[in-house]
Amino acid sequence: MNSEKTGFFISFEGNDGSGKTTQIRLLAQWFESRGRAVLQLREPGGTPIGEKVRDILLDNASSGMEPVTEMMLYAASRAQLTRTVITPALKRGDVVICDRFVDSSYAYQGFGRGLGMETVQAVNLVAIDGQMPHLTFFLDLDADTSMARRNASGTEADRLENEEMDFHRRAHDGYLALCAASGGRIKRIPVMTGLVQRTQEEVALEIRDFVLDLLS
Ligand SMILES: Nc1ncnc2c1ncn2[C@@H]1O[C@H](COP(=O)(O)OP(=O)(O)OP(=O)(O)O)[C@@H](O)[C@H]1O
Ligand SMILES: [Mg+2]
Repeated sequence: MNSEKTGFFISFEGNDGSGKTTQIRLLAQWFESRGRAVLQLREPGGTPIGEKVRDILLDNASSGMEPVTEMMLYAASRAQLTRTVITPALKRGDVVICDRFVDSSYAYQGFGRGLGMETVQAVNLVAIDGQMPHLTFFLDLDADTSMARRNASGTEADRLENEEMDFHRRAHDGYLALCAASGGRIKRIPVMTGLVQRTQEEVALEIRDFVLDLLS
């Protein structure tokens, strides 16, 4: 590596319940065991202002929110996170692992809400502060199985999770399309082998292989 420090920016994407948080925890532990400083972030949120925006977005009382309003609130949270946390951390040379990033806006607002890729891209161009993940893992678990797994966890569903299943199915289709168009940045990690769910460790090992490729 040259003398200018650059960290690694990795994001995790996938439907609610696909295993993002689980895999981020495992990957962060792995990096730490190798002596790397790791920052785990989540979207929306990750900053004091972003967490307030998150509350507005996920609050079930925010029913009636216009899709464009929703898109802009996600972008607002992202603008704060990139500028105050992600860009400085990457300059320090840290590993940044983000639970959702701009691909979520493409999948959920672009495809799910039907706002389209161009609109989401235009708004997010200014939000991302020039940062795109070096590597993105799309945990590919269909919308229905993901939601069943999410619901089994027992926590109360937020405004987005309470959306009709077709919204989640469109987002999943969106992820597949994004993956195909990403030029290799987005790695699709199947969560199922046929009808069987892969174990957390199996999924983690596949993810680590891609990370090792990136590091070398
Ligand atoms: N490989 C796996 N096999 C079976 N269950 C799993 C696996 N990975 C995660 N889980 C379980 O599935 C549920 C959802 O996982 P997790 O919270 O990591 O997903 P998530 O994508 O972060 O979901 P959310 O979008 O709700 O935050 C949890 O109860 C978790 O313990
Ligand atoms: Mg999670």
